Amino acid sequence: MAETSESSSSVPKHIAIIMDGNGRWAQKQNLPRTTGHKKGLDVAKQIVKTARDAGVDYLSLYAFSTENWKRPKEEVSYLMNLITTHLKEEFNFYKENQIRVQHIGRLDGLPKKVQKELQETIDFCKNFQGLTVVLAINYGSRDEIIRAIKKIENIQSLNEENFHNYLDYPELPDVDLLIRTGGEYRISNMLLWQSAYAEFIFTKTLWPDYTNECFLNDLETFKTRQRRYGAL
Ligand code: IPE
Ligand code: IPE
Ligand code: MG
Repeated sequence: MAETSESSSSVPKHIAIIMDGNGRWAQKQNLPRTTGHKKGLDVAKQIVKTARDAGVDYLSLYAFSTENWKRPKEEVSYLMNLITTHLKEEFNFYKENQIRVQHIGRLDGLPKKVQKELQETIDFCKNFQGLTVVLAINYGSRDEIIRAIKKIENIQSLNEENFHNYLDYPELPDVDLLIRTGGEYRISNMLLWQSAYAEFIFTKTLWPDYTNECFLNDLETFKTRQRRYGAL
C-alpha cells in the first residue's frame, strides 16, 4: 500500500503563532493594556530561544495585523514604539542566538522609523545560521495575496507550486503548526495560503502567561497528529 500520509513524529519546520491575549492579561490585573504588550514581547523572546533550541527552522510571529490600525491611536503608537525600540536595542539578542529576521506584511504602511529599524535588523542578521524569525507586522494574509497577484506578469503560468514566489517571503515553507493563544478560535487573517494543511492548536492561555513548558507541550501535541493531506 502506498504510504502517502505523513506522521508528524518530528519537530515542525515552520511554526506560526498568533500571540493573542495581551490586553486581557493586563486588564485582569487592572493594568493598562500596554503593560500586557510589554510582557508579551518578553514572552516572545523566550519562545524564540526555546524554538531555536528545539530545532524549529521558521517561527512566524503575528505582531500587528492590517486590522489592528482600528485600535485607539494611543495603543497603535505604543505598539509601533515598542517594536521600534526592540529592533533598535536588541541586535545582541539576535546575534547571541544567531537568529535571522525576516518581515512579512505591508512595509510601506508602517511609520518610517519602523521601516528603517526593520530593514537594519534584517540586514544585520542575514548571515546568521539559527532559527529564522518571521515578523508579521502590518500583515494581513488577504492583503499579501492581493499584492502577490498584482506582481504576476503571466497569470497563465501561475500554479500552486510557484505562487509562493510572489508572496512577501518566498522561501517561507508551509506552516506545519499554527498556535493561537488567548482563547479565540479563529485565524484572524494570518498566513491563509501557507496554512492550508497546518495543524492547529488553540489554547485559552493568554500570551503573557504562555511559558516554555506550554510551548514544549504544544510540540508534543504536534507529534501525536496524523497528517494525511487528503490521502488515507
Ligand atoms: C495581541 O493581544 C497583540 C496584538 C494584537 C498586537 P491583544 O492586544 O489582541 O490582546 P486582547 O486579545 O485584547 O486580550
Ligand atoms: C490577531 O489578534 C493579531 C495579532 C495577534 C497581532 P487580534 O486580537 O487582532 O484578533 P481578533 O480581533 O480577536 O480577531
Ligand atoms: Mg486580541
